[in-house]
This record gives sequence, structure tokens and C-alpha cells, in this order.
Amino acid sequence: MADITELYSLHINDLLARHRQLMQQFDFEYLVIPSGAPIRIYMDDMDYPFKSSFHFRTYVPLTELPHSYLVIGQQGKPTLVYYQPEDYWHAKPSDPQGVWPAHFDVQVISDQQQASEFMPQDSSNVAVLGEHTAITSKLTLAADNPSSLINAIQWQRAYKSEYEIACMFEANRMAAKAHRVAEQAFRAGKSEQQIHLAYVEATSCLEHQMPYSNIVALNQNGAVLHYTECQAQAPQQSVSFLIDAGASFNGYHSDITRTYATEQNEFAELITAMDEMQRNCIASIQTNQAYLDLHVDAHLAIAAIIQRFGIVDMTPESMVESGVSATFFPHGLGHLIGLQVHDVGGQFADQNGMPNPPPESHPFLRTTRSMEPGMAFTIEPGLYFIDSLLATQKQGEFASAFNWSKIEALMPFGGIRIEDDIVVRQDSVLNMSRDAFAELD
Ligand code: GLY
Ligand code: MN
Ligand code: MN
Repeated sequence: MADITELYSLHINDLLARHRQLMQQFDFEYLVIPSGAPIRIYMDDMDYPFKSSFHFRTYVPLTELPHSYLVIGQQGKPTLVYYQPEDYWHAKPSDPQGVWPAHFDVQVISDQQQASEFMPQDSSNVAVLGEHTAITSKLTLAADNPSSLINAIQWQRAYKSEYEIACMFEANRMAAKAHRVAEQAFRAGKSEQQIHLAYVEATSCLEHQMPYSNIVALNQNGAVLHYTECQAQAPQQSVSFLIDAGASFNGYHSDITRTYATEQNEFAELITAMDEMQRNCIASIQTNQAYLDLHVDAHLAIAAIIQRFGIVDMTPESMVESGVSATFFPHGLGHLIGLQVHDVGGQFADQNGMPNPPPESHPFLRTTRSMEPGMAFTIEPGLYFIDSLLATQKQGEFASAFNWSKIEALMPFGGIRIEDDIVVRQDSVLNMSRDAFAELD
């Protein structure tokens, strides 16, 4: 891998050039990008954990720095107003250091109000990107998140720089290492809460620094798609384990899911079949293919597994057409990933933000973009035994095609999801998650 300093340099230069071109196109002389202000808990004296705005993090890996600002003009280095208060209640942010300061005119302030000194004098040609603060509210003539500019920025964000890919790869390495620790804890019979804590510790991060709430699900809890309860008590017997957990590096995220069984039974065979299906799905990706087509192909492949295991006696095509496959796989195949776990711009048809929603038959698909070089996606097929969805099928016109006794026997295992983070290259696909696991072997 090229040196991260070099990659960051290329990233920031390209980003600035693209954003300056958009500023010209939409007639803005300055962009002002606040990192944001912490949000106070209602009638309390504490704040929710703070994360710098993603507009800010696109430029600088300062993931938890409030009351700071980027001021970007057409020429020269952008100004970075860096808030470093003297505060004996809290740790003082470190002095500006790392790969980024060389690219900015860094102005350290110790008082929030001082930021005003670095704002453009004339706010009539300014666009503010992100949540307003007391400082940006004084820019009375500024455009507040103009959609023209935001849509173009969000559209472009789907194409990752090599620096961004290197950061996501590192986030995958951190997560893969922790997934291995979690698997061991599961095999040792630990509770969901113990597995979760072992996972967090293994990433060397704090819980509030996780990219999303870990999904650590034993047995039938694996059938709850966003299960985040984390029971403190271990079940009498753990028969299966679904873990969906990532990590973050420089503000970029990973999002990985694995499923395990304790016995070599039919559920374990289903896991093997789904793992193979997921790898085949990734191997089949054609550069510039529509993500929706890959999602529909995945439905057919999962339906073929459902048929092969004798769970439903219908052809894969009729399962997909009738919605039966969606009973077992009721979410999208995946999403764009980057500075946000579910990265923005997934349902745009163009840079102007023309909506391109998924068809009614696949309402939860988060991206309809084509899979172009430089784009990063998750690929996360699933197969679950979900009470409420199966109950509806039991009353429906296809009920007799279902093997209800087999389904009953599989329900205690919950479900299966296998999720990797990939980058589409010109003639290949980089699987950051599988590569990160392989590095551990
Ligand atoms: N962890 C949330 C997701 O997979 O999209
Ligand atoms: Mn996930
Ligand atoms: Mn995901």
C-alpha cells in the first residue's frame, strides 16, 4: 500500500479541485463547513456522544472535534479553525498533528466566538454545508445547504479515493480481528453482552466509537434484523451466532456480518451454502452492472438454496415473483459504504439528485446505482426464519408449498447473514473483508 500521507495528499487535492469546480458552477465564493456542536440531552447537563459532521470528515480525520470550521475559498489553502479550549473539566484536544495540517491554514482558537474572525466578510456568496451553529447563523445571507451543491457532493461521494479505500481497508482489518475474538467467545458459551464487550475491546476502540450498534445475536435472536439488545445472561445452550459489527478508521467504516453454528447440522449446511452463494454473488459482479440486478440475482440464488434444502417446494423464479423469497430475505443486498455506514447518494439517478428509488417489489434496497470503478458497497445476503413473516405465509396462497415441520426445526437457529465490504475496480473486485480475514490466517 502506498504511504497514507501520500494517499491523503492526492485525496485532498482531488477533493478540493472537484468542490471548487462545483463552487464555480453554482456560483459560490466560499464554503463554510462546521464540524458541528454537541447535542445536549433534554433537561440534563450532559451531551450525546459527538461525531464531527461527514462534510467536515471528508476533508480531515478529526472525527470528534466540535466547534471547528473549514472555510474554503477558490484559491490557496483552506482555513481550518481548530477549537482547542482551555478546559480543566475535559481533556484538551491535542495540538494539530498528523497527515492533514500541512494542507490547511490552521487557526487554533480557545474561545468558540473567535471562529467568527475567520468567516467570510460578505456572506452573500457563501454556502454553509452541515448543521448551523451560533457562528454560521451570523452569516445571514449565506445559502443553507443548497441542494444543488449537496446533491452533487453526495453523488460524487460514491466514488472513493485510494486514501478512502485504504481507510476502509484498515477499518476492515480492525473488525476482522475482533470478529475472530467474538467467535471464540461464542464457542466458549459466553453471553451476548460478554461477546459484545470482547468484540469492542478487540477493536481497541470505545463503544461510542463503533460505526453502529453491534448486532450480537445468539440462537433465534439472529432472526431480528437489527437486534441490539445484548442479553447479559447466556442461554442454556448456544446453537447459533450472528454477529454484525464493524469498526472505524479516520472516520471511515467497515460493516461485516458472520454466522456460526456449534453443531455440524442442517443449519450449519445452510450457512455453508449461503457463504458460497455470497462469494459467487461477488465473483459475478460486472463493472458498471446495476446494483438492482445483482440484488435480484441474489434473490434467485437464495431461493435456489431454499428449494434445494426442501424448505419451500417452488421454483426459484416463482419464489421471487410471488414474494416468497422475500419472506426469508426481507432486506436489500447491500448499500454504499464510506464516511457513513449507509453512505449517501445510493438512490440518485444523476449528479442533480434526480431520485432513482428501488421498485415496489424491493422497497428496502438502499442503492440503485450502477457498480462503477472506485465505488464501495456491502454485499450482505441473508436467510432468516422470522416468526411474523412466516405467520403471514401460513395464511397465504402458497402455504402448502412450505415444509412447516422443517421450518419449525430451523426457527431456533434464527437466521444467517454473510456481509463483506467490497470495492469495484476496473476489471476486478476488491473484497476488503475477506482479505482482512485472510491476513489473520
Ligand atoms: N449493520 C447494518 C447493515 O448491515 O446495514
Ligand atoms: Mn451490517
Ligand atoms: Mn450493511
